Amino acid sequence: MKSKDFGETFYWGAAISAAQTESAALANGKGISIWDEFCEAQKGFFKSKFRIKSKHHLNYSSDFYVHYKTDIDLLKSMGFKHFRFSIAWSRILPEGETINQQGIAFYQEVIQYCIDCEIEPWVTLYHWDLPAALEKKGGWTNRAILDWFALYADVCVRHFSKVKHWMVLNEPSVFVGAGYFFGIHAPGKKGFYNFFKAMHHANLCIGYIYRIIKNINPDLHVGSTFSFTYVESIDAQPKNLKAAKTANLLINRLFFEPIIGLGYPKEDLKILYQIEKHIQAGDVELMKTNLDFIGVQTYTREMFKHNALNPFLKIKQVPAQHRTNELTAMNWEIFPPSIYHVLKMIDNYQTGIPMVITENGIALMDEVENGVVRDAQRIEYFKNHLKQVKRAKSEGMDIRGYFAWSLMDNFEWAEGYHPRFGLVHIDFETKERTLKNSGHWFRSFLKTDESQD
Ligand code: NOJ
Repeated sequence: MKSKDFGETFYWGAAISAAQTESAALANGKGISIWDEFCEAQKGFFKSKFRIKSKHHLNYSSDFYVHYKTDIDLLKSMGFKHFRFSIAWSRILPEGETINQQGIAFYQEVIQYCIDCEIEPWVTLYHWDLPAALEKKGGWTNRAILDWFALYADVCVRHFSKVKHWMVLNEPSVFVGAGYFFGIHAPGKKGFYNFFKAMHHANLCIGYIYRIIKNINPDLHVGSTFSFTYVESIDAQPKNLKAAKTANLLINRLFFEPIIGLGYPKEDLKILYQIEKHIQAGDVELMKTNLDFIGVQTYTREMFKHNALNPFLKIKQVPAQHRTNELTAMNWEIFPPSIYHVLKMIDNYQTGIPMVITENGIALMDEVENGVVRDAQRIEYFKNHLKQVKRAKSEGMDIRGYFAWSLMDNFEWAEGYHPRFGLVHIDFETKERTLKNSGHWFRSFLKTDESQD
């Protein structure tokens, strides 16, 4: 397999996000975000509780805020021509209202440095770090988020006019599910009521903000990213097949079908009728968005079976540990055909919208030994997943690019710093950067014409 097999215009890139890499949580006028707060101790009756594993805190991550030039140089050295990163909303509008010029200046410098290095910036507006001041007003459960986001998007698009590629949201199903249903991500809210409201507002935002950006400049390339996972039933028993169908609806359809004009799949899951009270006239049309690209983010396969004890959904996830394939440091199953099946599933909707794989990668517990990180498993992961992408392309699916997650090790949300996703190793104490063997592999894959099978 050669990188050229994917075509001359294929976008090859690597991705990061602000909250996971920047540190500098309060530097130069930045406001507090919901993730800054979520990392702090919760004062309990007897002792404080922490919600991030090992009490890790995002403020001690990769220091991209300081080292961005080194990081972009490393990206370039591997032969990538595209860089996906996000803007911290609370660096731009610390309380959600007034512009922080120092925040604007920081991203202008990052963007300019990309351009100087002939790297195309791909900017995600929302990668989960809402200003805490807006969460106090209800965050994603408050419909006013449309206005707050409109202001933020307008400020960004006008100030960062050199950026051509924009993404509105990063994986709404994950930040809404984990943050507003399970309460395991910021802001830690729970239950169906919060979930339905936050979900509907996130879906509306995609359409609303897409139109705002295109109104400012119709030539901009605007998409949004979605988390997709290949879902299977544990076996062919009808009740288990039904459970897998429900899981597929929740994981893959619920946040995607409204955007491509199919509305919420209420007929297939009656509890979804509860969303109706949040839907206003014109909402269905507003959610329907002819995006310029669908950002596909996918990592693994999940399996489900029937569970009579689960009151509403009747489903149970079968942990990857109960299966035979190898696992990643996230305990996710390594199953390369899953990316092909996900691409095929999206292709089957026949939206006519091109796909860009905006995230794919593997977490390991990498260590530096004598200046070398021997992450052979990561190289295998990328090779095998890319072969499946090539297979999908050869069947005619419109796939325009591939971004590895992640450029460098970073803060993996509630999991803290142990799972490492980077092509570049970060020593979180010294901030030293070491290109892993997988980074060297990408360099030969992207820069030479030799086959890398
Ligand atoms: C998806 C998210 O966008 C990213 O922030 C996260 O680190 C990766 N998946 C890995 O879990």
